Amino acid sequence: MARKAALFLSIVMALACLNIRVQVSAEDTEAIPIHGARFNGGMRRMQEFKDSLIRRDLASDISPSPAPTVPPPQGKSGSKVYYVTSYGADPSGKSDSTDAILKAISDAYNGPRLGNLIEGITNLGGAQIHLEGGNYLISKPLQLPAAGAGNLMIHGGTLTASDNFPTDGYLIDLSAATSSSSANKEEKNKTSINNSQQLASGSSYNYEYITLKDLMLDSNFRGGAIQVINSLRTSIDNCYIVHFSTNGILVQSGHETYIRNSFLGQHITAGGDPGERNFSGTAINLMGNDNAVTDVVIFSAAVGIMVSGPANTFSGVHCYNKATGFGGTGIYLKLPGLTQTRIVNSYMDYTSIVAEDPAQLHISSSFFLGDAFILLKSINGVANGVNIVDNMFSGSDKGVEIVQLDESKGPFKQIDQVVVHRNNVRGMNLRATVGRGSMQSNGSSWTVDFSSLLLFPNLISHVQYSLITSDSSFPNHALRNVSANRVVIESDKASAGSVFVTVNQGGTN
Ligand SMILES: *[C@@H]1O[C@H](CO)[C@@H](O)[C@H](O)[C@H]1NC(C)=O
Ligand SMILES: *[C@@H]1O[C@H](CO)[C@@H](O)[C@H](O)[C@H]1NC(C)=O
Ligand SMILES: *[C@@H]1O[C@H](CO)[C@@H](O)[C@H](O)[C@H]1NC(C)=O
Ligand SMILES: *[C@@H]1O[C@H](CO)[C@@H](O)[C@H](O)[C@H]1NC(C)=O
Ligand SMILES: *[C@@H]1O[C@H](CO)[C@@H](O)[C@H](O)[C@H]1NC(C)=O
Repeated sequence: MARKAALFLSIVMALACLNIRVQVSAEDTEAIPIHGARFNGGMRRMQEFKDSLIRRDLASDISPSPAPTVPPPQGKSGSKVYYVTSYGADPSGKSDSTDAILKAISDAYNGPRLGNLIEGITNLGGAQIHLEGGNYLISKPLQLPAAGAGNLMIHGGTLTASDNFPTDGYLIDLSAATSSSSANKEEKNKTSINNSQQLASGSSYNYEYITLKDLMLDSNFRGGAIQVINSLRTSIDNCYIVHFSTNGILVQSGHETYIRNSFLGQHITAGGDPGERNFSGTAINLMGNDNAVTDVVIFSAAVGIMVSGPANTFSGVHCYNKATGFGGTGIYLKLPGLTQTRIVNSYMDYTSIVAEDPAQLHISSSFFLGDAFILLKSINGVANGVNIVDNMFSGSDKGVEIVQLDESKGPFKQIDQVVVHRNNVRGMNLRATVGRGSMQSNGSSWTVDFSSLLLFPNLISHVQYSLITSDSSFPNHALRNVSANRVVIESDKASAGSVFVTVNQGGTN
């Protein structure tokens, strides 16, 4: 409310500065964004804005019944906002709006252009497909007419898949358009067969700077919501994505898809759902590099985020998609040997993180609730450059370890620079790669057992110890054995004393 008042005030002040007198009621103020008025375009646009307000006032004065809003003719005065209802889209969600919305998109394509973005990508100049707060029934994927365009936004409404929507489709499909569906399949096949080839080939991206914003996308348990193939700088912002049966969002090759401030779930639930065991699908499937998922909640899906491309980053992600106890996974890092993933400031809520052969993985400042843990899964036995530090773990005293190894396919054998340290734990078992212990004894041998603390079963690469004797003896002593994570110190003569030991599995640093 306060914000609205502030907005209203700033509009009035802007008008006052330009010496234009317009009487606006609160109702008119609310209507401003629907007209897409912008205040950075100088006098001419301000005049248009004023005119539109006056027209509205007149219209409501003249006709007592609400007259159908007549959106401004497309392209007039350089407007690039395409209102889908003026193409016949049905905002009540009753009749199919696919062709109407596709026509609006096609008009945006044929509107004014502003040269190029990256080479080969035409700049559509910020054209907007405006959904006007409606709910539209969609029977086939909304695909852009052709690859090679950018700077386009689709926003402001709900898209719902109809009962005959193809189950392998996506409501919004940013893949390269082709004329026939069989050719389309072939193209998709090609893409999936060899991503790396496409990446290596360089500049042939499909789209650049497409923004999907303020959308509710309901896949009606038929396929997914958004597919982004081989595109650059795609922005998915404030979307509510539900009822997918495959992926909520699929990103394949290309780079810099930024998914922000969004909510994804197969079923609309707030946790503790009786059907949780049956949740399926993947909320976000990243098969490409350099993407970011920021401030996103995933409330229902078998896998929250599946990652198979390097150099992605996750921050502020809250996963309560399907409890690990029911077979779910929060974040699955399927990039053995080249993980290059950062997960920070996230909230794993009964859902675990799985990393296959982690190589350059950073997990910090995150909260693991409900016995959620991190599983390092050996594929070829590599764990290299892993930081799991400064996290909080909370469980229910069932003895669940905070970091676990899956060595069913063979043991980890190339372990270097793995740091699991400074995590705090409540009701779970601590595991770490750094340990500290002491032992008091009266004799010639001291053993400090780190086997219940250290992550890797038989690995101590560094030991430091002190022996403090409390009697008058002054023995010679030495480190004798570190096998099975047990540190043995022996002295040449019996004495009463304590050893203080620090150990490290971290490798070279
Ligand atoms: C896709 O590729 C697979 C083999 O990789 C092939 O069996 C299948 O027929 C292809 N599908 C299409 C539609 O080309
Ligand atoms: C994909 O293409 C790259 C580069 O041309 C090649 O090195 C690689 O072997 C190909 N991978 C597959 C699965 O075809
Ligand atoms: C889960 O799915 C199984 C098999 O489809 C079904 O028998 C069961 O009733 C479902 N459970 C819930 C809680 O929906
Ligand atoms: C250590 O053991 C020796 C021999 O059993 C005994 O004489 C001595 O008092 C013990 N010292 C302490 C501090 O218990
Ligand atoms: C170290 O201890 C293990 C048992 O923990 C034993 O099998 C091994 O022989 C010991 N090594 C040496 C050098 O004493």
